[in-house]
Amino acid sequence: MIFYFSGCGNSRWIAEELAVATGDKPIFIPDVKDNGFNVEGETLGFVFPIYSWAAPQLVEDFVLKMTWTGTPEYVWFACTCGDNMGRAFERFQKTLSKVGLILDSGFYFQMPETYLCMAGFRLDSEEGARKKIEAARAKLPVVIAAVRARKKGVKDVIAGLFPFTKTYLIRPGFVKNVSDKKYHSTKECTGCGLCARVCPLHNIEMVDGKPQWTGHCTQCMACYHHCPTNAIQFGTTTLGKGQYYFKR
Ligand SMILES: Cc1cc2nc3c(=O)[nH]c(=O)nc-3n(C[C@H](O)[C@H](O)[C@H](O)COP(=O)(O)O)c2cc1C
Repeated sequence: MIFYFSGCGNSRWIAEELAVATGDKPIFIPDVKDNGFNVEGETLGFVFPIYSWAAPQLVEDFVLKMTWTGTPEYVWFACTCGDNMGRAFERFQKTLSKVGLILDSGFYFQMPETYLCMAGFRLDSEEGARKKIEAARAKLPVVIAAVRARKKGVKDVIAGLFPFTKTYLIRPGFVKNVSDKKYHSTKECTGCGLCARVCPLHNIEMVDGKPQWTGHCTQCMACYHHCPTNAIQFGTTTLGKGQYYFKR
């Protein structure tokens, strides 16, 4: 089984490539309404983007709320990040250990940046994004081979500077302040409803042909990046910053 989350498609691509190569079933975390999984003798993989130097809160909550029975033979994760992941490996390892799961290996892929909700955060240039995707494409067979061989003890991380501070001191503030209150649509909105359809958490309702955010956002920015007329903005912070989502 491969459980994954993705807002803008980077992690979905990695999850799907790994699923095809390993024969594992990819399961989109927001779709999972089961209250338990038996993973006796199976491999158990998680694929997710890095949000504020850790797994997204909804991924951690999923791990903690599910009932895991059996003993998986091999537990791994692959994350995608625009830049670096701080102490995401250690933090996810600890989250898994709280439900009795032992992390065997973790991998990272640098992929194009998607977070734009704060001043100073920008998209990669087209060239920069292309290079990251090419590097990830070249790395995929290596990760696939490791996962297929159930290789244990791989700690493939890109921690960046001050990883402890980022993951353990800055991230809690980020999680506390995640909010959709600043999202709005501009006059360019055609009412097509694509934002509502791509929102992985079904957090957008179309009211009188315009999107309304309903308060359980995870800040994945899928609505912003997929809008065909760039009519969704987050306050004024995203103005003029451009859009990106992964296209096969
Ligand atoms: C809310 C949010 C927080 C992010 N935080 C980080 C981060 O701490 N470090 C980093 O390198 N990239 C960060 N990013 C960038 C994403 O991890 C990266 O673009 C990822 O590949 C997006 O995956 P997706 O397309 O599957 O949603 C963040 C993106 C978002 C939306």
